[in-house]
Amino acid sequence: MPVERTLVLLKPETLQRGIVGEVISRFERRGLKIVALKMLWMDRDLAERHYAAHRGKDFYEPLIEYITSSPLIAMVLEGDEAIEVVRKMAGSTDCREAEPGTIRGDFGLSTQKNIVHASDSSESAEREIALFFSPDEIHDYDLSVSRWLK
Ligand code: CMP
Repeated sequence: MPVERTLVLLKPETLQRGIVGEVISRFERRGLKIVALKMLWMDRDLAERHYAAHRGKDFYEPLIEYITSSPLIAMVLEGDEAIEVVRKMAGSTDCREAEPGTIRGDFGLSTQKNIVHASDSSESAEREIALFFSPDEIHDYDLSVSRWLK
């Protein structure tokens, strides 16, 4: 099982609605390791680079406007097959179609405001992580719960 890293964005509505903790908590409980985390206000340049694959689509301009309208949380999660695991936890892009039990299925009703973004492949993960984090902002450490209970 490959240990992978994936980029997750907690989109602006997650902060606005006060559900950042609940969403992060799901990833922690699943056993994913937070190796980088920051709050930032995306500018247009970063948003356009992040969503370059969607340029020209009808939802592109509203998406760029929305994602730059308020701060968000960016994080890198690490774990066995983290890319696929996190995508499954997020659920279908359209929250209304997302299964209950998934993050989008439990917290959203929108396609644009769909709570989280998660990298969809190892190529995307590598590219997206580099957009948001410099290597010295990503931390290697042992995740050993028992060490902290002594
Ligand atoms: P995300 O996983 O961040 O990747 C692209 C984003 O575009 C997606 O989540 C949604 O926020 C948005 N998106 C995708 N499809 C649509 C759509 N049909 N209408 C509006 N927004 C969309």
